[in-house]
Amino acid sequence: MIEADQLIPRPVRRELRANPFERGAELGTAVGDLSAFMMTYKFGLDEVLTKVGILREEFTFTHDVNPIEHVKSRLKSPASIAEKVLRKGYGLQPESIRRHLLDIAGVRITCSFISDVYRVADMLTRQQDVKVIRTRDYIRDPKPNGYQSLHLILEIPVFLSDRVELVPVEVQIRTAAMDFWAGLEHKINYKYHGDIPAGLMEELQEAATVAGNLDRKMERLRTELGQRDVVERR
Ligand code: GTP
Ligand code: MG
Repeated sequence: MIEADQLIPRPVRRELRANPFERGAELGTAVGDLSAFMMTYKFGLDEVLTKVGILREEFTFTHDVNPIEHVKSRLKSPASIAEKVLRKGYGLQPESIRRHLLDIAGVRITCSFISDVYRVADMLTRQQDVKVIRTRDYIRDPKPNGYQSLHLILEIPVFLSDRVELVPVEVQIRTAAMDFWAGLEHKINYKYHGDIPAGLMEELQEAATVAGNLDRKMERLRTELGQRDVVERR
């Protein structure tokens, strides 16, 4: 039999044992409770990953192309949960965390083309059991640093033995170019503790513009290719 604990990724498990919300002593939730709490998010993640996997497989089967390049997922560690909820000024009670932290379960989907980003978002949000809690379109409105990505908070029902839990899952969908940029920006940000020197920031903004131009060019080329295909087939 699989212990509930084993369903939780090893690093998170280790942290649960060694450091149950060290930064929030008053949380005082027993490790068992915390495991159960984390488990529903893990199930929410599984539900979304299954949906994405089905879309990916079905798409490859029926269209011979695949709008999804990579899928990554993560559960926020208990320490980051405690850190974030305290930083935002909320309590550490499970109810407070449930209400205020919508990114405990996170999925990141990378696509080749911008139009695929919206296509994948549509395919997910159209599903009957998916409720969209929040959409942030940083592709239409990039962040001041140049960050681009489509963020959705989805609410997914998870059917447990005695109840149904509605679990929020953050889904970030972006192109490979946007992902490349975000990965580097994240590293630089980490190195400078969020205080990136002005010159470097400018270069990052420039790089984001270049990435955006590449995405638009690739999109145009693909559209053109599609149109040529149609003409040649006539
Ligand atoms: P958080 O408190 O960070 O969760 O922000 P938020 O709740 O206002 O949500 P937002 O949609 O702005 O960002 C959520 C997530 O998107 C972050 O946790 C990062 O994973 C990613 N993200 C947002 N902005 C940036 C950015 O400028 N650079 C990078 N590399 N990632 C970002
Ligand atoms: Mg977040």
